[in-house]
Amino acid sequence: MKPDIADIADIEKYISVSARIDTSDIDWNQARESGLTDDEKFVLTYFSDVESQTIRYLRMLLQMKIAFKPSVTAFLTTWNYEEFFHGYELARLMAVCGSPLEQDRIEKVTHKARFNEWLEAAFAPLLSRIFSNQFPAVYLSFGAIQEMTTLRGYEHLRRYTRNPVLKILCDRIAKQERRHFAWYFNHARELLMESSGARLLARKLLEFNWVPVGAGIKSPEEVKRLFSILFPAESARKIVREIDDKMGTLPGLEGIKLMEPYFEKAGAL
Ligand SMILES: [Fe+2]
Ligand SMILES: [Fe+2]
Repeated sequence: MKPDIADIADIEKYISVSARIDTSDIDWNQARESGLTDDEKFVLTYFSDVESQTIRYLRMLLQMKIAFKPSVTAFLTTWNYEEFFHGYELARLMAVCGSPLEQDRIEKVTHKARFNEWLEAAFAPLLSRIFSNQFPAVYLSFGAIQEMTTLRGYEHLRRYTRNPVLKILCDRIAKQERRHFAWYFNHARELLMESSGARLLARKLLEFNWVPVGAGIKSPEEVKRLFSILFPAESARKIVREIDDKMGTLPGLEGIKLMEPYFEKAGAL
């Protein structure tokens, strides 16, 4: 696919802002001195595991024809690069604070995800072939809700942590997550606007198949624990409604409820 003028402008935009999160000015001794609480260790392990699995999503996304539109290729490349370093720097922080992740962590987590992955590998290509014109909107809508949830998670962790280095890392990661969310959300909206079939499919698959970030590799108890640490009772309902309401502004997803029923059922609200 050859890039057009608008595409070239988009590509330039991604390249000019994309970077590995900067940690060159960080005093890791400060992190060591402050240490991490047990809850923070749990959250960072969860986040680091999720970040390290981004490559699996990339593999799914690359099955779509639009992945080869030059501006989409540029975004996906920079996105994956940024996500990789989120996991990397969080793992580094844990190691500095005396709680290193196991050497073969990524392999172990990927192994856990195998059943899910098998399902994805078996059905996603089939569905995306049958609905090749509608499926990209589905993926991008899933991406939008996952990026928004992740963003809110980092924002809350930044607010509550006493570790100054974790605060800085959350702040810098959140800036990139905000851009990721905007890309997924805006591109999902464009594609949903273009096709009534995409609107229908996105709604059905989200309602039928969506689970929160990390639920494919973590147990329901772990998902619930993460949620209750990051979003304590007084703010939890507000957060889930905010995310559902935002998704509900996408064409075809009006009034959709995903986060609220999931966490209500899990007993976390
Ligand atoms: Fe990330
Ligand atoms: Fe992200």
